[in-house]
Amino acid sequence: MKFTDSPVIELSVIDTRLSIQQDNGSMHVGTSVWPCSLVLVKFAERWHPLKCAAGDNPYADLLNFTNKRGVELGAGCGVASMGLYLLGLHDIVVTDIAPVMPALKHNLKRNKPALKKALKTTQLYWGNEEQLKSLKPPFDFVIATDVVYLEETVAPLIKAMEVLMADDGVVLLGYQLRSPEAHKLFWEMCVDVFEVEKIPHEHLHPEYAYEEADVYVFRKKKKEQNS
Ligand SMILES: C[S@@+](CC[C@H](N)C(=O)[O-])C[C@H]1O[C@@H](n2cnc3c(N)ncnc32)[C@H](O)[C@@H]1O
Repeated sequence: MKFTDSPVIELSVIDTRLSIQQDNGSMHVGTSVWPCSLVLVKFAERWHPLKCAAGDNPYADLLNFTNKRGVELGAGCGVASMGLYLLGLHDIVVTDIAPVMPALKHNLKRNKPALKKALKTTQLYWGNEEQLKSLKPPFDFVIATDVVYLEETVAPLIKAMEVLMADDGVVLLGYQLRSPEAHKLFWEMCVDVFEVEKIPHEHLHPEYAYEEADVYVFRKKKKEQNS
């Protein structure tokens, strides 16, 4: 898989080509397309019912998006939400911080013919309890890609995931190590809160996989397991 710093990234999902404009020169990391978002979308596409029959598909239940609600955290240019929308997750709230909103909205508009006006956007700072509440959880899917890179945001990020996801919901996480300190804290805290499943690399899309990128599925630990 090749990544590029070209101003436009194209991504085919089933029979639609998304076109995402990025600005690598801006001050905000959210205006770039980070590769784990592509890895997550293409993993989900690989196991989509149109690509893989239910009997041969270990992810048929996990990736059944029918009538499910999702929220994306730190969406940046919005690739993960756009891709999962095309795979059938039609009710998604796409969130990020205020300075990233113009890039996010611009890219949703750019892909309007494919997305219609289905994806809603809203500002969300992970530590902001009022904003979390106003999203009206619970969500079946909490989506996040390449969001673990600052130690001080790890605790609010995990809390936001926990607050937003339904008891039987999942977090779909595209992950790459960006900061050793944030990485260490994130995984220490995660195992206290979530059951963590790592998708085997051979189950990722062969053209959208590389050694450093992983897809994880988190489920809430059952109450009695926490005690
Ligand atoms: C490395 S970028 C990844 C963007 C996008 N998910 C992708 O994979 O292309 C990290 C994103 O997390 C967002 N972010 C960082 N800290 C945040 C916080 N405290 N609350 C909400 N979003 C945050 C950033 O604004 C940025 O869009």
